[in-house]
Amino acid sequence: MNILAPSILSGDFWHLGEQIEEAQAAGAKYLHIDVMDGNFVPSVSYGSPVIRSLRKSTDFFFDVHLMVIHPETYIERMAKCGADLINFHYEATDNVAGVIGQIRAVDKKVGITIKPGTPVSVLEPYLEQVDMVLIMTVEPGRGGQKLIPQCLDKVRELKHLIDERGLQVDIEVDGGIIIENVAEAIAAGANIIVAGSAVFLGDITENVHGLLKNM
Ligand code: DX5
Ligand code: ZN
Repeated sequence: MNILAPSILSGDFWHLGEQIEEAQAAGAKYLHIDVMDGNFVPSVSYGSPVIRSLRKSTDFFFDVHLMVIHPETYIERMAKCGADLINFHYEATDNVAGVIGQIRAVDKKVGITIKPGTPVSVLEPYLEQVDMVLIMTVEPGRGGQKLIPQCLDKVRELKHLIDERGLQVDIEVDGGIIIENVAEAIAAGANIIVAGSAVFLGDITENVHGLLKNM
């Protein structure tokens, strides 16, 4: 089953609770939460206090995307505040295996993420150890950018590697996904689709239905 994960980065924070409920009622299964530290990426977004506050009012699956350096210092906090899956960037640490171990130790699902310039081959040693690979389809840091088509070639390459090894690893794509290109991302091999502006700008129910119809 393919899953839609709306990214609250493009939400209206005055109305965030209602917007999240609307996206879930329309059929989204994950909530994508982008944590930015102003260091790994230029912007600062939100962190554990916001996630903890959302967790009190929703049973949504929280897919947390850490755009931070030293992700090892965040894992415990993210687990405590309500993350279900923790995605960290390959580029953000020199101890990938250690971070995977930390996420396992707190009993959360493990996601590893690569930026557009990072080749799929770096993931090979870790594919057996993760639940999800997130292939960024834009440079991380902000919503509303255009998908970089070459990143879908990386999705195809990764899908091939995963199938070849007989693994059950989810492939998520994030950045520039819209109604017009979501089918192409699915065809390339992605099964979890992040969409920020394509969900939260305009009519959320209509947007979610439109995306799901093409997945
Ligand atoms: C960007 C974030 C994304 C962002 C996607 O660095 O990781 O999750 O919210 O936004 P759209 O879907 O608008 O490209
Ligand atoms: Zn993201």
